Amino acid sequence: MLIGRKKALYTLENAGCSKKVIQHCQTVERISLTIAKRILSRGHKLDIHLVSGGALLHDIGRASTHGVWHGVEGGKILRRLGLRMFAKFAEHHLGAGIPKNEAIKLGLPARDFIPKTLEEKIVTYADKLAMRNRKISYGRALELLRSDLGPKHPAIERFKKLHEEIQNLSGGGPAET
Ligand SMILES: [Fe+2]
Repeated sequence: MLIGRKKALYTLENAGCSKKVIQHCQTVERISLTIAKRILSRGHKLDIHLVSGGALLHDIGRASTHGVWHGVEGGKILRRLGLRMFAKFAEHHLGAGIPKNEAIKLGLPARDFIPKTLEEKIVTYADKLAMRNRKISYGRALELLRSDLGPKHPAIERFKKLHEEIQNLSGGGPAET
């Protein structure tokens, strides 16, 4: 079952997310929908309601931690609430996805945390373009990732690839502005 925007926002609040986190999730949803509509308009298939719910709920784990575990925690919360179709949005959105070898180094469960579906990829990408309540450019997002993780971190290349994939599908435009 999908989820309406009102119910998703209520779910975040009820889980204990701060106003700041909820506003961020709304920003990620706005950016995600812009990208998703652009991709749809070019004849590709995706589930826009899934994108909306996934974007709104991706950071629900921040109700219990802001650390690297917030994705895993978010997945747990969503499964417990009967919203398992959104769990992978929470689990796979950190960085540009985290492969198993890096997950192990971070102390996360030993598996891949990589966005696999187009819907998950859009939300993961949009999350990197959401700086608090506003949208930043891809260039700025890349710069921030570089300064956060170091210029040689493999996440940089993954983010570049994700950007290219989204740009190819959407024909550029909103993802850049
Ligand atoms: Fe997050």
